Amino acid sequence: MSEPPPRYRARACTASGCGLRFPVAEGSPLGERCPVCGAPTEWVDDGYRTHGAPPAARAGRLRLELLLDNVRSLRNVGSMFRTADGVGIDHLHLGGVTPGPEHPKLAKTALGAERSVPWSRHPDACRAAAELRARGRELWALEGGPRSVSLYQPEVDAAARAWRRGDQAVVLVLGHEVSGVDPRIVDQCERVVHLPMMGHKDSLNVSVTLGVAAYHLRFGIAPDPHEGP
Ligand SMILES: C[S@@+](CC[C@H](N)C(=O)[O-])C[C@H]1O[C@@H](n2cnc3c(N)ncnc32)[C@H](O)[C@@H]1O
Repeated sequence: MSEPPPRYRARACTASGCGLRFPVAEGSPLGERCPVCGAPTEWVDDGYRTHGAPPAARAGRLRLELLLDNVRSLRNVGSMFRTADGVGIDHLHLGGVTPGPEHPKLAKTALGAERSVPWSRHPDACRAAAELRARGRELWALEGGPRSVSLYQPEVDAAARAWRRGDQAVVLVLGHEVSGVDPRIVDQCERVVHLPMMGHKDSLNVSVTLGVAAYHLRFGIAPDPHEGP
């Protein structure tokens, strides 16, 4: 029998003027002192359980893979493993310096997803892109630049529906945190798509980009009436 999930309960700082409120596993001695001001804290309100999101009712037929072109941060790559598990990525191709599950710190953000998502290592991501194309994959770069169109353009929906009718995998390519996707890889991509930006910055964190784009492609595009289940 599996263990019941832990319950949590809020503690609140008793110091007037502080008022910090934070969650602690119910019954745990941790948090008896306020982590901000050091004053004693007390339990408040009732305990509760957390809820994971329910499993997808219909995963869709879209076969998605990822090529990470020199994404260097362990936190980003761990987070991308976790997203890949959630959104049903079939394979993660780790290119160049992209760290893999052999790094113990990657598990801090992957939380076990590094064991559920198949992955492989490719010292030269540019060459890996060519090999994936030769094996019939369609490559889409998530990147800006002159060829890039918004992920939310109707032409992208149409292309995603066309993938779902075939059974070839599409490989989303994401790049290095500073220099982006190697232009030699972008040149090999059938499409270049971006998430529109409204603020002062011209890019998002790479793992956030993956979450937004992959969930949109998997779940955000309505099937056309001719598509089967
Ligand atoms: C932080 S960005 C790289 C720097 C970026 N090329 C720049 O000039 O600011 C890291 C990677 O995240 C992805 N990315 C970040 N923001 C994006 C966006 N708005 N649209 C598409 N991809 C994005 C791309 O794959 C990019 O290579």
